[in-house]
Amino acid sequence: MSYKRRVLTGITTSGIPHIGNLAGAILPAIEASKDPTTKTFLFLADYHSLIKNNDSDLTHTSSFDIAACWLACGLDHEKVIFYRQSDIPHIMELAWVLGCLTAKGLLNRAHAYKSAVSENEAKNKKDSEKGITMGLFNYPILMSADILIFNANIVPVGQDQKQHVEMTRDIASRFNHLYGEIFTIPEASIEKDKGILPGIDGRKMSKSYENIIPIFLNKDELRKKVMKIKTDSKEPGEPKNSENSTVFNLYRAFASAKDTEEFKKSFEEGISWGEAKEILFSLLEDSIRPYKENYQELIKDPLSLEKILLSGAEKALDISLPIIKQVRKAVGIRSFGDIPK
Ligand code: TRP
Repeated sequence: MSYKRRVLTGITTSGIPHIGNLAGAILPAIEASKDPTTKTFLFLADYHSLIKNNDSDLTHTSSFDIAACWLACGLDHEKVIFYRQSDIPHIMELAWVLGCLTAKGLLNRAHAYKSAVSENEAKNKKDSEKGITMGLFNYPILMSADILIFNANIVPVGQDQKQHVEMTRDIASRFNHLYGEIFTIPEASIEKDKGILPGIDGRKMSKSYENIIPIFLNKDELRKKVMKIKTDSKEPGEPKNSENSTVFNLYRAFASAKDTEEFKKSFEEGISWGEAKEILFSLLEDSIRPYKENYQELIKDPLSLEKILLSGAEKALDISLPIIKQVRKAVGIRSFGDIPK
């Protein structure tokens, strides 16, 4: 069988999946995973979650919810390798090895770390490193290990993660230079901005802005969220601009091209915000209903979900084991029987 390109993405398990994730990441990734010329690795980055919070219940339930969500939305766990990071201890082991050859100066330049420092500086904190953990600082190394342990070729990520993939390339090249060509140099595949949806306040939908619309709300809750979407104060009958309207942009993400065109026309014709929101609400409710039904079935049976992830881990370990063995050998962690005479 010919070698398939390996496409790998991780999802940090510290939040509830929202419709921005659904339209921008989950559905496109599930679609892409059907490409028969690639092998897809998709994992729950549960150790990454500890960087963002110390709430064990959040890490645990978020892992579970996100796993159920991806399966409910149509991920075929027989075809892709779907696993939890924590089930693959080789990742942690490799992270240490990579850390030992990564310049601290490289990590000093990481955006996430730098912005934490500048936030402290902006608040006039005496210690600009206040509250910054080694987890946050080392984050790009753990991410490199996630990618390199499977010799992934392509890493689809948002623009904010591009730098981490570039660091992974640097780190992999340094390893190969020091110890021999073990790692594939991966490439980032950057998702277009159209994947980024606005939240109910008009800014990018993100848990940190508290403006998300969770995927699995019940009907009434969903309706309430949609009714809260911020709009301008144009009256019914006044033409409205669709381009920068949150209502319109959310609609477009789930509607056909034809329906989108019609919706746009009704904006020009002065549809009222109340009516536009009703239309958006019905579309979201209809689009999400089938996933919601699957999700409700899946969460009834946590042990089956556990089994699915463990079988994914088994497949992943078959690939990571030979690579970590090569790494150990290359760096000099090997049997005393191998000591050269
Ligand atoms: N850091 C990524 C994010 O927050 C998630 C992630 C962890 C990841 N490890 C990865 C993405 C490896 C791609 C490859 O979005």
